[in-house]
Amino acid sequence: MTTPAPIDFQSEKTRDLATVEGTLVVFADGDGKLGSAAAAIDAASGGALGRAVADQEFKTKAGTVRGLRYPSGLAAKSVLLACLGKAPDRAAARKTGGAIAKALGKGNVTICTAGAASDELAAELIWAAALRLYDFRDYKTVDEENGEPDVQAITALADQPAALRKAFAPFAALAEGVFFTRDLVNEPANRLTTDEFSTRLAALAKLGVDVEILGEKALAKLGARSLLAVGQGSPSETKMVVMKWMGGKKKQVPLALVGKGVVFDTGGISIKPAGGMEEMTMDMGGAGVVAGVMRTLALRKAKANVIGVVGLVENMPDGLAQRPGDIVKSMKGDTIEVINTDAEGRMVLCDALWYTQKTFKPQAVIDLATLTGAIIIALGHHQAGYFSNDDAFAAEFAAAAASVGDDAWRMPLGKPYADQLKSRLADLKNTGGRPAGSVTAAEFLHRFIEDGTPWIHIDIAGVALVNAGTDLAPKGATGWGVAALDELIRTKLEG
Ligand code: BES
Ligand code: MN
Ligand code: ZN
Repeated sequence: MTTPAPIDFQSEKTRDLATVEGTLVVFADGDGKLGSAAAAIDAASGGALGRAVADQEFKTKAGTVRGLRYPSGLAAKSVLLACLGKAPDRAAARKTGGAIAKALGKGNVTICTAGAASDELAAELIWAAALRLYDFRDYKTVDEENGEPDVQAITALADQPAALRKAFAPFAALAEGVFFTRDLVNEPANRLTTDEFSTRLAALAKLGVDVEILGEKALAKLGARSLLAVGQGSPSETKMVVMKWMGGKKKQVPLALVGKGVVFDTGGISIKPAGGMEEMTMDMGGAGVVAGVMRTLALRKAKANVIGVVGLVENMPDGLAQRPGDIVKSMKGDTIEVINTDAEGRMVLCDALWYTQKTFKPQAVIDLATLTGAIIIALGHHQAGYFSNDDAFAAEFAAAAASVGDDAWRMPLGKPYADQLKSRLADLKNTGGRPAGSVTAAEFLHRFIEDGTPWIHIDIAGVALVNAGTDLAPKGATGWGVAALDELIRTKLEG
């Protein structure tokens, strides 16, 4: 398990910055004026930081970071001079925090926040830095770069350390949730089987989450034939895991989060080409986000009622696997003609969505899935695509996602797309052809949403895993969506 670097909050006034070891982070403002800690460091180091901000190359915008190695007059091995830009907002704080983390070398780091930012922005900056420092090392048996370990601890210096610690507490919970998601997404499929996944979810019970695991027998009894069909070719047991966090008022109707948890997607009998197939270990990304949100809610003791449901299954080719042409009956009762066994995510979600609505009567439903390659063609790896049957709910989600920097673009729904799923033999087929592949996938799910239930489907195929680092994540799993949904839950259920 990967855990965020521990953060210690201390008073800046009582520290002699010249004696701090490791890396010191100080700030200049949007006019290039040194903050109080930066000015003190400047004096102790014979004017080095003053020269840095006077240099044409120093930009007074958010995310500028200049490094000074082995400065004379200081115990620190290096000093980073960071700029939050003019009138910094949450986005500026995140960008700067991420840039600081990227610029850090090894060893411990001390961030001098006094006077540089409000407690809220300082907390957001530290959170961003902690996220960018994520490093999944579970399978590295040798330390390739010998010597000092990576950043192991962060010290945040502030005028009022207790106030900053308090402002940071919800961010600490969120960082742990994001790390939980990233670990799940980065894990290989021989390790993260459906059993292992459900075991990790069961462990959330220690935090007060109510966890129920339904295995194949229970699912068969419920009539979840569509979900079960996907897992038919794998020796790993298909499961549905229900997580409940009921921290809100008794009368608050819960919000439901539903995730696609395909621990590996070979495509099944409609097998995928070999190139890049190894990335299909991330096909449980939707379930990973649901898990990360539930962990965050429990850690910060959210005053909200939220149900998380994930369908865990492995899509393998085998003598027992489902075939193209098979017809299966979903839990709802609609029959599905399987045109392509690689369009398995929707077959997982339709039963998970139906079960969730029938069992919990949620006020609204959000599902997340690495559902289609077509969403990557449409939006690349920059934004998730979301679809909704409810404009007001969609707008609430959009605002939450934008405020935390999880970029998303709304995509359309519509009858012509749904019509692409008409089947000659069954109620619908599981693919609608190449045109608008992400939209027809969304329309497939739409059919399993009850009239009047506000619903958002988020296709995270492009954003769950990236092969270049982002502002807040090194390459690999991003945890996209954990912060957005946590924020939505705050504004919608706790506001
Ligand atoms: N898991 C894939 C989608 C995917 C592709 C996720 C690339 C992440 C990166 C999904 O199960 C799938 O195979 N979808 C097919 C649907 C098609 C057969 C209708 C696709 O997108 O090609
Ligand atoms: Mn597939
Ligand atoms: Zn898939």
